[in-house]
Amino acid sequence: MRQASLFTAFVHLSNAPLGGAFSPSTLPSAASRVSTLLRNASPSSTATEPPLNPLLSKIKPSKTVEVFSLVKQMEAEGETVTSLCVGEPDFAPPQAVLDAATAAMANGHTTYTAVTGTLELRRAIADDLKSRKGIEYNPVTEIVVGNGAKQCVYQGLLAACGAGDEVIVPAPYWPSYPEMALLVGASPVILETSVNDGYLINPEALDQCLKDHPKAKVLMLCNPSNPTGGVHSTDLLHQIAQVVEKYPNIIVLADEIYERLVYTQDGKCTAFASLPNMFSRTITINGFSKSHAMTGFRLGYLAAPARFAKAASVLQGQITSCASSVSQAAGVAALREVEESWLENNAVIMKKKRDYVLEELGKMDGVSVAVPPDGAFYVLPDVSKYYDGDDTQLCLDLLKEKKLALVPGESFGAPGTVRISYATSMEELEVAMTKLREFLEGLS
Ligand SMILES: Cc1ncc(COP(=O)(O)O)c(C=O)c1O
Repeated sequence: MRQASLFTAFVHLSNAPLGGAFSPSTLPSAASRVSTLLRNASPSSTATEPPLNPLLSKIKPSKTVEVFSLVKQMEAEGETVTSLCVGEPDFAPPQAVLDAATAAMANGHTTYTAVTGTLELRRAIADDLKSRKGIEYNPVTEIVVGNGAKQCVYQGLLAACGAGDEVIVPAPYWPSYPEMALLVGASPVILETSVNDGYLINPEALDQCLKDHPKAKVLMLCNPSNPTGGVHSTDLLHQIAQVVEKYPNIIVLADEIYERLVYTQDGKCTAFASLPNMFSRTITINGFSKSHAMTGFRLGYLAAPARFAKAASVLQGQITSCASSVSQAAGVAALREVEESWLENNAVIMKKKRDYVLEELGKMDGVSVAVPPDGAFYVLPDVSKYYDGDDTQLCLDLLKEKKLALVPGESFGAPGTVRISYATSMEELEVAMTKLREFLEGLS
């Protein structure tokens, strides 16, 4: 088995200045950037420069964003890179959404809106949550529209906890969760899950974790999960809710941004807030990026009991004021005009891609997926047989040698794995799976 043989070369190359000139054929420069970005990401200052906020020394930049930036950079320099690193649907937003955005601009809807969003959009969100999830939110007091679900997660956390508190983050996790916990002054507590449980939360382990961490204020629940694609069943969610009931200080931050992409028989993802006694304990996060391919519109929302929604709106009022008025008009169209069949069809297509990737991974020696993922558009195969489990080095060499971009599992709290995003064309997936197979075969 080949070990981390190129690491010394990467370290050597990483001394090259990051902003230097970079010709299309200079892969070593690109490689050095990968190495620098992935291995040595903390911001720093010299003795002569004014210092940065010390908080920054605790925060890691997102590796997904970094790998993606690097791919874009390599492409701009003439490389052809196969990228399965970004969490972005490969389909276009529905026409009704695009038309609504154009109409909003043409009709002068180009000004600030209420901090919490237009009432029209909040009503559409409340109606959607009621009809599909059976939860009643008051659109006036319990819904806050923000600039993407990411901002809503941050504001939800900031509303619910702060310095001295702890945030339970089940691993593997979306990398922003622990970093955001640190940003709000709290400490992330990692709750390990088992690959054999499909990386889903084990209620007994959660109970023990909450017992051991009386300072815990928030449980992050990513359902369906990025990066594992795991979907907690209704039954499992009930068991988690029963544990949560025992700890009255705990708020569940239920990030359900992938809930329209579920591949089980019924295709449903139960909203945590809809469970008995959980409405008052849940901050629900959702948005339009994954369901309606509206990543660039930067539109998401938080739905929660009024005091949390109020707190989030006070915070947002001091940070970004409101989401884009044009995006909000597009959001209304997404919820009011897009046919259910459009969303269902995307899930059918995505499931075919998942099945293809799982089949191909199944043929690769030393690659395993213990439980097939049931949602989102990610697979997190175990590749720990290679590179002594150094997934970052594996991704570095894969990018350098095969121009295939995956994200190291280590950044999701899952060392020895890599995250594959299959939200791309079948042609691209075929190329990617061939490259991965050839690369791994070359290591054996
Ligand atoms: C789990 C999870 N939550 C939230 C987001 C953020 O979504 P948005 O584009 O709406 O900010 C992402 C995006 O990758 C995600 O994976």
